[in-house]
Amino acid sequence: MIYIFTKNRPMSTPVLALGRSVFGDPANKGNLPPLEDAHALLAEWVPNERLRLHMKQVAAVMKAWALEREGADELTARKWELAGLLHDADWEKYPEAHCRIIIEKLEEMNVDPDVIHTIASHGPKHFGVEPETKMDKMIYVFDELSGFIHAAALIRPTRYEGMDVKSILKKLKTASFAAQVSRDDINDALSRIDTPLEEIIQFVIDHQKDVV
Ligand SMILES: [Fe+2]
Repeated sequence: MIYIFTKNRPMSTPVLALGRSVFGDPANKGNLPPLEDAHALLAEWVPNERLRLHMKQVAAVMKAWALEREGADELTARKWELAGLLHDADWEKYPEAHCRIIIEKLEEMNVDPDVIHTIASHGPKHFGVEPETKMDKMIYVFDELSGFIHAAALIRPTRYEGMDVKSILKKLKTASFAAQVSRDDINDALSRIDTPLEEIIQFVIDHQKDVV
């Protein structure tokens, strides 16, 4: 069976709205934990290798987008990377309180509020927090697509090698393929940015193919 991690959850799991829209303390702007600490948190909270891979892939794509497309400096790119790396950190251990727990943890750690807001808004329909910044919008765009493209790679004998955008577009139109990936969320996320889907798919393929 293909395992894909998406923010869609079994019917029995209640949807948790966070009930607030302000996160972290503005005094902590620029305060980012070392990447080693973020990886240590994942090692502790996320035994599932596939879920860890999902977060590492989203982190790689986020960082690359910040550097290549937003002209970000190193500190800003690290914010994008950390948001990707930690956005689902509480999913496995605290599925019923997904998003709330990691947010509280990052607030306790005095992490930059921009990173916390991005994590809080990565599923607006679930958590009730609207993406505002470009970093917020891009994690929403990449989250589902990254998992979807990885699912497509897993069923190809050559994985990412030779994968083309057209085949991904076709699979997105095939409702039965990776049915748990919400096409509505993908479309909603894309409607908030100016980059076409084809370009986003190619970017994801290019930047997550070598992540292990
Ligand atoms: Fe995710």
